[in-house]
Amino acid sequence: MSDTKLYPVPAEFAQNSLLNDNAYQAMYKHSITNPEAFWGEQGHIVDWIKPYSQVKSTSFQPGRVDINWFQDGQLNVSANCLDRHLKDNANKTAIIWEGDNPEDSEKLTYQDVYEKVCQFSNALKAQGIKKGDVVCLYMPMVPEAAIAMLACTRIGAVHTIVFAGFSAEALADRIDNCGAKLVITADEGVRAGRITRLKDCVDTALAKPQVTTVNNVIVFARTNADVAWHEGRDLWWHDVVKDQPSECAPEAMNAEDPLFILYTSGSTGKPKGVLHTTGGYLVYATMTFKYVFDHQDSDVFWCTADVGWITGHSYLVYGPLANAATTVLFEGVPNYPDTARMSQVVDKHQVTTLYTAPTAIRALMAKGDDAIKGTKRTSLRLMGSVGEPINPEAWQWYYNTIGNASTPIVDTWWQTETGGILITPLPGATSLKPGSATRPFFGVNPALVDNEGNILDGENEGNLVILDSWPGQMRGIYGDESRFEEAYFSTFPNMYCTGDGAKRDADGYYWITGRVDDVLNVSGHRMGTAEIESALVAHNKIAEAAVVGVPHDIKGQGIYAYVTLNAGEEADEALLKEVKQWVRSEIGAIATPDTLHWTQALPKTRSGKIMRRILRKVATDDTDTLGDTSTLADPSVVDTLISEKQEA
Ligand code: WTA
Repeated sequence: MSDTKLYPVPAEFAQNSLLNDNAYQAMYKHSITNPEAFWGEQGHIVDWIKPYSQVKSTSFQPGRVDINWFQDGQLNVSANCLDRHLKDNANKTAIIWEGDNPEDSEKLTYQDVYEKVCQFSNALKAQGIKKGDVVCLYMPMVPEAAIAMLACTRIGAVHTIVFAGFSAEALADRIDNCGAKLVITADEGVRAGRITRLKDCVDTALAKPQVTTVNNVIVFARTNADVAWHEGRDLWWHDVVKDQPSECAPEAMNAEDPLFILYTSGSTGKPKGVLHTTGGYLVYATMTFKYVFDHQDSDVFWCTADVGWITGHSYLVYGPLANAATTVLFEGVPNYPDTARMSQVVDKHQVTTLYTAPTAIRALMAKGDDAIKGTKRTSLRLMGSVGEPINPEAWQWYYNTIGNASTPIVDTWWQTETGGILITPLPGATSLKPGSATRPFFGVNPALVDNEGNILDGENEGNLVILDSWPGQMRGIYGDESRFEEAYFSTFPNMYCTGDGAKRDADGYYWITGRVDDVLNVSGHRMGTAEIESALVAHNKIAEAAVVGVPHDIKGQGIYAYVTLNAGEEADEALLKEVKQWVRSEIGAIATPDTLHWTQALPKTRSGKIMRRILRKVATDDTDTLGDTSTLADPSVVDTLISEKQEA
């Protein structure tokens, strides 16, 4: 680990970068020893309508967990992302949209986006949407997704984006949980040449009895396909903006007013609505974007994440736009129509900074040089990775093949809950080690603890925790305040528990080893095993289910599901298809099990607890060292599982 080859900052990069290592060290030290002063200064990276006098008021103490930043300040997110740039950057490109079809692309300047956001803000108001109301977005990757987000922030509405790959069932659950008054969608989405009937999905979701709060649906015409229409409820985007003025005064929001809710998977059956607020989130997204991506005015930044994930929120929309950057919004996938698409887009738009996920890198790597065929990629000066641990082979390939062995890579570790990047190299300051997220960002105080919560020193491995608050931290679980402390602060008192394991090497670099809880990371998407299990057992032929993650070459982790059927049910090909389809309709395609293992019985302790440790070992054929099985109610279950696996 610590003897891995070092990749020092390239001399050319160092010359123009915002921060060198000395600057990082000094700023980091200041941020930890005096967070109040540090963030008091850095908070001015955004514009405040009413300046703050309080900076940090946070507690991780048991029974008193409470997080407030810049508490008495007021600001508006859309004004920070748009209005303040109009003086110098009105004609600068804010959004480059690249369609699924390589012939479709469009550029929107800051002035364009400003006007469209104002018009759409007025349209939202005309539908009765007010400060504090929740608006749900179920959108394809079109500029209107970003416009709708910004419009919500302009009028103080709270957005919740549901990834358009989630099913109607999952959408309904989320709408029900957050009480959204309005849904914004498109007639259809287009991805990799395939059509998704988004409006149909919304119709199905809204027809469910538990969904009672939605008054209107605004539909953006992406493909102009025929869609069912509910008079009085449904409205076309182009109609609602038509007569709206292109000015709309931004609402003065308190720093701690809710900004958005984003659902993510945890270790329980239901996804959690992660709540972020206005001031701290924006300061943190803006600042991390600036320093982690070493932002320069001439950059063209491309984050390949979907707006439905936190990466899309912080580094496709808010971070870049708050920095007056040019951000690429891509409708498609990295390997369509051909394997070189990602590289072609880099050349076409002269992308300088590419931020993508290890799963995409591994999928391209499997195709070798086809991934760069006919392209140069010489515009790139920096690349990033996010979403899951990047294995050193994939890192090297990304570096050598996509990056022409000349651009630094920032391997950025963070979470939906953290709002922005917490552990990462700074490209002008940090020597890189392939596979390591390296060092903490300013104000982030990580530690490793053993299972009893004792802090581990020096070179070590343990549970990754954060000892003090940072401005981008989530503020709560929407609609379930008590769960926040329990979910994140009860495992290890006085510490934020990340759910990840990590190693720290002799240089103090962190190496994230992956989740230590019941959360899977499939192609960079978080999935709770409990969530998939509850979808499985909701099927009328299934008695019990247990899901574990197994290593997968491209996806990082694959989903392996053990299923027992109700008496009298027969496991066959048809049922296999039916069950996979069932999970897709309950959650979405990303949750579809790779393997279904029909079994007679699951290994349980005498108290009825499923022993996942054993299930993990059987799934990966690692059955030589099963460990102690004496606590099992019926130890013969294990042999049955092993022979079922071998027969399958
Ligand atoms: C994992 C995505 C290793 C980690 C931003 C975390 C990573 C979970 C990295 C959060 C990385 C994210 N190296 N693991 N660079 N980035 N992860 O909420 O397990 O979708 O807890 O946020 O992804 O996933 P989420």
